[in-house]
Amino acid sequence: MTQRRSFLAALGSLPVVGLGMGWAQAATGDASHNMMNMGAATSVTSVKLAAVDALPAGTALKGLVKLANTSGQAGLFRASLVAAPVNVPLLAGAPTEFWAYNGNLPGPLIEVVEGDTVEILFENRLPQATTVHWHGLPVPPEQDGNPQDAVAPGSKRLYRFTLPVGSAGTYWYHPHPHGSTPEQVYRGLAGAFIVRAKVDPLKDIPERLLVISDLKLGADGRIAPNDANDEMNGREGQFALVNAQRQPVLPFDRSGRERWRLWNASSARYLRLVLPGTGLTLVGTDGGLLERPIKGLAELLLAPAQRAEVIVDAGSNKSRVQLVAAPYQRGKMGTVPAETQLSLLTVDFSQVEGLAQKPLPAKLARINELGRPAVKKRVVFSEKMSMAGGQHEMKFLVNGKQFDMKRIDLVSKINQVELWEIANESDMDHPFHIHGTQFQVIEREMDGKVTPEAYRAWRDIVNLKAGETVRIKLVQRFKGLRMFHCHILEHEGAGMMGQLQVV
Ligand code: C2O
Ligand code: CU
Ligand code: CU
Repeated sequence: MTQRRSFLAALGSLPVVGLGMGWAQAATGDASHNMMNMGAATSVTSVKLAAVDALPAGTALKGLVKLANTSGQAGLFRASLVAAPVNVPLLAGAPTEFWAYNGNLPGPLIEVVEGDTVEILFENRLPQATTVHWHGLPVPPEQDGNPQDAVAPGSKRLYRFTLPVGSAGTYWYHPHPHGSTPEQVYRGLAGAFIVRAKVDPLKDIPERLLVISDLKLGADGRIAPNDANDEMNGREGQFALVNAQRQPVLPFDRSGRERWRLWNASSARYLRLVLPGTGLTLVGTDGGLLERPIKGLAELLLAPAQRAEVIVDAGSNKSRVQLVAAPYQRGKMGTVPAETQLSLLTVDFSQVEGLAQKPLPAKLARINELGRPAVKKRVVFSEKMSMAGGQHEMKFLVNGKQFDMKRIDLVSKINQVELWEIANESDMDHPFHIHGTQFQVIEREMDGKVTPEAYRAWRDIVNLKAGETVRIKLVQRFKGLRMFHCHILEHEGAGMMGQLQVV
C-alpha cells in the first residue's frame, strides 16, 4: 500500500543504527526527542524486562473473585468498585504496583441476570481521572464511562443501568478516560462482566472463565512504560496471563466437557488459540450465544477486546495439553522480534472419566436478522507518517482525522438499522469496536473478493486485516454520544477513535 511504501521509503533514507531501540531514536539521533506525542509514561528506549520465567508457572488455575451483590432486592445488583494502586509481590525484593479494581487482578467478576438493574458506586483512588466503561453492554451513554464523564481523583460516582432481556453475553469493563486508557488498562484495570440468560441451553455444562491479559514487567519489578514499538504496534509484554497467572494448570472436569468463556483483555496482543488434539466448538461471541454450535474449530482468533464461548471436549485426551497462542502476523511495523508461540495454560485431562457426551443442543439462541438498513456509513482506518518539527510521527486516523472530544464525526438516528462499511486502508490489523450496541457482520471484502459471513452472531469487535473491508449492520437504542475506535489501546489513545451522536 502506498502509505506503507512511503513509510518504508522514509525509513530507508535514514541511518539505521539502533533501529531495534525504536527508529525514532535512529531518526533524530537524540533519545530525548520523542517521535510520537506520547504520554509522560513513554520512553523511546525500552527498559530492561524481567526474564520470561521470572513469574512462577504451573500453579492451579484460580477462579475469578466475584463482586458481591449487597442488594437484598430481586432484580437489583448493587455493589461498589474502587480503583486504586495495589502492591503485589511478584519479583523478589520489589513489589509491583498495579492499579486494580477492589485490589483484584483481574478486576472482580460482575455477574448479573438479564433484566437486572445494576447500581455500582464507583470510587476513584487513582492519581488521575478515570471512568468505567461497560464494554459491549447496552447501557445509556451517560452511564457508559465516556471520556467526557471523567471521575476526578478522590471522587465517586454512581453508575446505574438496566440490562434488557436478550443481552445475555460475555462482556467486560475497563477505564476510558481521555488519553490515559492504555496506561490504566496495562496497569491492571479491567474486569469480566457476565450477563446470564434466564434460560440457558448450556447451563448443565461446567463453566470455566478465562481472562487473558498482558503484562510487561520491568526487571526492577515495575510495570514497564510503553516504548516506541508499543506506541506504534500496540503494547505486548513478555507475559500473557490467564486470570493473572502465568501458565496455570486447569484440571479439566471429569465429565470430559467444559464451557469456556474467553476474554482477550490485552492491550494489543492477538490470541490465535490452539488446543492440540482437542475438539473446540464455538457456541458464543461477544454478545451471546450463536444460533447453532459450530463444531471442529482447529483454532480460534481472539482480537484484542474480543470474547468467545467455546465447548471443549476432552475426547480421548488423557494427558496434559497446552493451550497456546500460535504466531499471528498482524503487520507490525519497525524492527520487532519475530512472532513466537506462547503457552497460555496447561489443561490436565487426567481426571476425565471418558463418559460419552450427549450431543449439544442443535439450537442455542435466536438471532434476529436486523433487516434492511436505512442508511449507509463508511469508516476508514488509516495510518500516516508525518514530519513535525524535524521528528517523525506515526498518526493513526479514522476518516483521515485524529480523535477530538469536541467533534462529532457521525450522526445516527435512534432505532434505525444502519449499514457500516469499515475499511482498513492501513498496513496493520485493527480491531474495530463501537460502544452501546452489538452488531452483525454481513460480509468481508479483501482484494475485491466478497465473502458473506458464514453465520449470524452478535459482536462488538471485528478484526480488519490490512486492506480488508467489513460490512456490519447495527442499531443504536439510546440517544447520546458513543465512541467507535480501534481496540489496540495505544491506537485508540493516539486518536484512532471517532464520536457518534445518536439523535
Ligand atoms: Cu473496550 Cu471504547 O472500549
Ligand atoms: Cu467499548
Ligand atoms: Cu489499531
